[in-house]
Amino acid sequence: MTLWSGRFDSAPDPAAFDFGISFGFDRLLFEDDVTGSLAWAEALGAAGVLSVGDTRAIVTALKDILAEGLRNPAFVAGPDEDVHSFVERTLVERVGDAGRRLHTGRSRNEQVSLDLRLYLRRRIPALQQAIARLVDACASQAEQAGAALMPSYTHLRKAQPVLVAHFFLSHAAALQRDYARLAAASAEADALPLGSGAIAGTSYPVDTAMLAKTLGFSRVVQNSMDASSDRDFVASFLFATSLAMVHLSRLAEDLILFTGEEHGFFELSDASATGSSMMPQKKNPDPLELVRGKTGRAVGRLTGWLVTMKGLPTGYNKDLQEDKEAVFDAENTLAVSAHAAHAVVSRLSINADRTAQAASGLLLATDVADYLVSRGMPFRRAHEVVGAMVRRLLAERRDFSDLSMAEWREASDMFGEDAPLAATALASVQAKRTPQSTSPDAVQAALGRCRTWISAALPPTQTQK
Ligand code: ARG
Repeated sequence: MTLWSGRFDSAPDPAAFDFGISFGFDRLLFEDDVTGSLAWAEALGAAGVLSVGDTRAIVTALKDILAEGLRNPAFVAGPDEDVHSFVERTLVERVGDAGRRLHTGRSRNEQVSLDLRLYLRRRIPALQQAIARLVDACASQAEQAGAALMPSYTHLRKAQPVLVAHFFLSHAAALQRDYARLAAASAEADALPLGSGAIAGTSYPVDTAMLAKTLGFSRVVQNSMDASSDRDFVASFLFATSLAMVHLSRLAEDLILFTGEEHGFFELSDASATGSSMMPQKKNPDPLELVRGKTGRAVGRLTGWLVTMKGLPTGYNKDLQEDKEAVFDAENTLAVSAHAAHAVVSRLSINADRTAQAASGLLLATDVADYLVSRGMPFRRAHEVVGAMVRRLLAERRDFSDLSMAEWREASDMFGEDAPLAATALASVQAKRTPQSTSPDAVQAALGRCRTWISAALPPTQTQK
């Protein structure tokens, strides 16, 4: 028995019916579906469409059903087509005809949009917390790194020295944007679709402003036809989760490289590494590789969803049912990945000797050029002079710290006694002047701002410091 069997002479073909059912996954919307139906029953009661007695019977039964489903998830099961059919069937079993009146003036088209909006608004904060906990772990690493130096890279070639703290805060900065992007996706879901009916609106005088307020929405959708078609909020959520996964993947890739033998900047804790079944020396970064790998899955969900939406005409189409598995999978992927990344980052130790060692050498060339600029040489000339020095040092397998004063002077008579002092990693970071730079003062201030952000984003019990 379906919600629509009255229209048909025969029962649906079992295979075709099975193909269409969504109860296997949309049962995750159970709580939201009942919440929406409770508000709808009240609204019909207030509009005089339902009698006081029917409204009371429906509300009481729905509250019982909700409590039972929350207490015992196995209760939310049956041969039903979807979660909406399950709730309605259960209600009718308990209150008879009153239950058969609940769907007056309402369509599953708006109901499913409502449920998913409620679901996202309920669940997004947990993802934001997971992101904020990872920001917190990055900030703690930045604190512990103190004045430690490391090379930064462009084109994966050594670029310039930076503070290790600056590296960790660079990841924190991207993650803070992900947090905001999730908030924006939640804000996009923040519109009540009820009152849209199947597509044209409803002919019962329900108070949509009141319904919006009851259900925690700040507004009502603009247009019922758009509401029946619209899943932009799903696309925005999938984009927010995909980009967050891209950032987790970048962090994972950095840490896979930097904890490897060739770099050795950081050490993975034994707790966040795995061994090899054959090679006894191996300490593999499996959790980081999985985070990087699962990013493909998240991006795939976004891509798949955009392709689904692209083919649709205006109005509800059953294709839209595909939105839910995309949302649930993307949500779960980001949640487990952020958790794994947190486990790795919070247990990472810095090998400050190795990072300092790697931050010295020819990556100080820009600082040497800046020295000449400070003595009045045009930058383009200085670039040439230092380029020639680098060419020679490379050929001789030496670096700036090996140059005698005579050799400095030979390269340019603008080099003074203090030239070698400019060519150190510490002098390089200390020379930086802008607020977003790796200058120790700027990084200290950035860490302070990051801590302030974390205290606003995370409940106090969850911070590491
Ligand atoms: N399971 C459907 C979905 O997820 C619910 C809406 C069904 N509406 C309809 N007209 N068949 O989209």
